[in-house]
Amino acid sequence: VALKEFNTFGISAFAKAYTPINIPAQFKEAASYYKGEQVFLLGGGSNMLLIDDISRPVLHVLTKGIETQAAQNGEIHITAQAGENWHEFVLYCIKNNYAGIENLSLIPGNIGTSPIQNIGAYGVELKDVFNSCTVIDLQTLEEKSLSLEECNFGYRDSVFKKEAAGKYIITSVTFKLQDLSINPDYKLKTSYGAIQEELDRLGGEPDIALVSQAVINIRTSKLPDPKIIGNSGSFFKNPIIKRDRYDELVRLHPHMPSYNVDDDHVKVPAGWLIDQCGFKGYRKGDAGVHDKQALVLVNHGKATGKEIISLSREIQEKVNSRFGISIDTEVNLIENM
Ligand code: EPU
Repeated sequence: VALKEFNTFGISAFAKAYTPINIPAQFKEAASYYKGEQVFLLGGGSNMLLIDDISRPVLHVLTKGIETQAAQNGEIHITAQAGENWHEFVLYCIKNNYAGIENLSLIPGNIGTSPIQNIGAYGVELKDVFNSCTVIDLQTLEEKSLSLEECNFGYRDSVFKKEAAGKYIITSVTFKLQDLSINPDYKLKTSYGAIQEELDRLGGEPDIALVSQAVINIRTSKLPDPKIIGNSGSFFKNPIIKRDRYDELVRLHPHMPSYNVDDDHVKVPAGWLIDQCGFKGYRKGDAGVHDKQALVLVNHGKATGKEIISLSREIQEKVNSRFGISIDTEVNLIENM
């Protein structure tokens, strides 16, 4: 089966075996059919780079459905099936006046993969609104629910990238949001980046719909639309460095931006580091660096995974030799699977 249509980078690669999962009952069926084997779980295909073909059986998670349960004091628990598209879910919540994920508008991908890398943008991370998720253990076929603590979320990180890598299928995620029809005192999160500026430009009384629109406008102005030009959003993570090291660097580079992590650590935007190395808009064959945001690598048409990786190594080396900082990929590199 061709995977080109199933990955937002638009890389041409093939799967030996492919099973779509359209209804929840098929999770268990597929898990028991492939019990003991390693499978490859495909969601929205928005955070991966296919470097070669996939020989593991591919399970494509396409289950749909959204259910709400009222909790206390205007808190609402809302469960979405793993195959729901993330942004459509955000829009559904805004339409129903459920607040909490409007800052996460337009993030590509699906519900089921959102916990794996604890998606985040504009001052909000999935973990801030996460209640629990249901999983199937691929070894034991046991179904269970994992709590916020058990998921051990960090910056673009979770248990699903570490101890539990390859262990589970995430079948649904339950969020805790605020129902504004019951609890109208919700505080919008507008302090990050250019949100306030964009809200001012849009005018009118800010509400969750307007924050969502502001985020959509900012994202579309900087990030390439995968339907038009293949990409997986941020290709690298923003490196976290020791504060002493940052203090030294900022003396040499007075305009170096940073985000505070804790007393001893600072996060530096990888996009800025890459931009400083002159890579914005750089292109080698069909593998390139986006011309409006250096953190995003793009496929101008026929790039292979190997070509994108070789470009990313070139960038990593240049950033390292210029700043002494190593930057790690955020996108999952799929090879030998
Ligand atoms: N910058 C440059 N040149 C560039 C890109 C950025 O100088 O080419 C500078 C900007 O001027 C700014 C700073 O770097 O001072 C940070 O840039 P930006 O606000 O665009 O955000 P980011 O750190 O590059 C992160 C997330 C994004 C998320 C935005 C907004 C990571 C790896 N990336 O990007 O997440 O949307 O903040 O919250 O944490 C994603 O994960 O796919 C993603 C897009």
